[in-house]
Order: sequence, then structure tokens, then C-alpha cells
Amino acid sequence: KEFDVVSVGDCVIDCLFYVDRMPKMAETMTANSFEALPGGKGANVCIAGARLGSKNAFICKLGQDLFGQNFINILNKENLNIDHVTFTDKQPTSVASIMVDPVGNNSIAVNFGATLELSEKDIENAEELIKKCKVLITSMVVKEKTALNSLKIAKKHNLITVFNFAPAIQDLDVEFNKYVDVLVVNEVEAEVFTGSSVKSVEDAEKACRIVLEREGFEIGVVVTLGEKGCVFGNKKNGEIKYYPAIKVNVVDSTGAGDAFCGALAHFISKCDIYKAINLASSYASQTVTRKGTQSSYPYINDLPDSFRV
Ligand code: RIB
Ligand code: NA
Repeated sequence: KEFDVVSVGDCVIDCLFYVDRMPKMAETMTANSFEALPGGKGANVCIAGARLGSKNAFICKLGQDLFGQNFINILNKENLNIDHVTFTDKQPTSVASIMVDPVGNNSIAVNFGATLELSEKDIENAEELIKKCKVLITSMVVKEKTALNSLKIAKKHNLITVFNFAPAIQDLDVEFNKYVDVLVVNEVEAEVFTGSSVKSVEDAEKACRIVLEREGFEIGVVVTLGEKGCVFGNKKNGEIKYYPAIKVNVVDSTGAGDAFCGALAHFISKCDIYKAINLASSYASQTVTRKGTQSSYPYINDLPDSFRV
């Protein structure tokens, strides 16, 4: 196939405020520094894979504004197919306000704007491109119907599908199950998806078992646990495996989950799922040692040879 991974998602201008602590209700406080950097789960996953050496394509919707134009320049530098990055005049380009505290925790509010204009029709228009890819990855940053349609079209053409259930919603359409090969959820998303609280590795293992009992998810489920690592539930044999995270100095964890998903999609197109999760998790741990999202994603040339598969 001509391409490795196609990402269906969002481009977001991340307005990052580095603060001493999260502000309280009705409080005005000063930030120590500020940066406006490119982000958005859809762009983040696509760029992480491309920097690892994948030939990737991106499907998203931008606003007809300065941020939208700016994103075209950013995407052009990343060696991606952007034939299906289109514009709308109905909504502004997505923007996020992100507070990051001194230990690297964050809290985020996003206005999805233009991303919500990415429609089922836009995905149908991209069917010829999707056909040419090995893996499709999407998440809930686009409308539920748009995400579902992209998964359906991907399965129609035998792609491997990865679905990051973020941001999580209650009562996700059960149709998703059939069209998702690999489900990726963090603690919060796992809890919404399974109804079972996830605070520890044991809880994550339990959540994996719940997902494996449901129909679909032909490859399995990954529950990410931040600095604790992640747990994989294998649909084929029911095996549950825990991957502890590498200990690193955390500066900014924003976008680490996306680095994981993007690297996972990249490695799934190249090697078996166990190796893919291992490499994706070490890639993600590198990104938390640097500020920002995409700005913290290493290129294959900056990484040890073990990342070349
Ligand atoms: O997952 C991190 C991303 O989520 C950020 O880049 C920000 O855009 C938010 O949407
Ligand atoms: Na980072």
C-alpha cells in the first residue's frame, strides 16, 4: 500500500500557560510563561508516526482564519499527505487553553470549532485515499458519526483500525465495537467505557477483561496509565499484559497519550502488537521530558536503533 497510517482528527492551536498551580474558581493568577504551539490529537498522532518514518495521510477540517493557514505551513513541513485537509467558513480553527503545572500535569479546555464540521461526506470523499493506507486511527475529537464512518470505510478496505476513545462520552454507539481492532483508553476513558473505576494496574486489567468480553475489538484493548505504564488485553488469546513505564523527568505530559497512539499506529503497520506497544510506550515516555505536544516528539534520527523496525 502507498501509505502507512491515515489519521482522521483535529488540528488545534494549543495555548499553553505554565503555572505554579492550577487556578481556583474566580481567581486571576499570573502564568510563568506562555507558548502557542500546534497540537490536536489528530495532528499529534499523524505527526508522531511521520517523525518515526511512516508515510502518513491526514484528514481534518480547518477554519478560514490565520490559525488555519498557519496549520497548512506546519503540516507541509511534516511530509504528510494533506489532500483531505479542507477548510470551512462556518467555524474557527480549533483552539485549546492548557494549564501546565510544575510537575507536568495539565488541564485542558478545547473549542473544537471547525473540527465539528468534518462530516461523514468528507470521509466518503477520502475513500480513495483511505483504501491506500494500512492503518486508520481516529478519536472522539470529530463527531461520533464521522469517527464511525471513517472506521467503517477503513474496515471495508481491510485496514487495521485504532480508536482512541478521547474525549470519552457516555453511551457510545455500540456499532463502534465491530469496526475497531484496537481500542486505546486512559484511566478516565476506560471507566466511562466499562463502568468500572480504573485507578491501579489491577483495575486496568479488570477493565481489559470487560472489553474483551464484548463483541469486536479483534486485536484488543490498551489501557494507558500515565507514569504507571499501560495494560494490553489480547482478544485472540485473552492474555493480559502489563507494560511498566520507563522512569523519566516529567516536564510536560501534554500530548504524551497522542504520541503513544501515533507511535502505536505506526508500529502496528510494521510489527506485531506486543512489540508495537513496547516501542510506542518508550516513544511516549521521551515526549514528557520536553515542553509542548508536537514540539516534544522526537524524530527517528534522534532515537536509538531499536526504534527502527
Ligand atoms: O491530547 C492532547 C491534545 O488535546 C492537545 O494537543 C490539545 O490540542 C488537546 O485537544
Ligand atoms: Na511533552
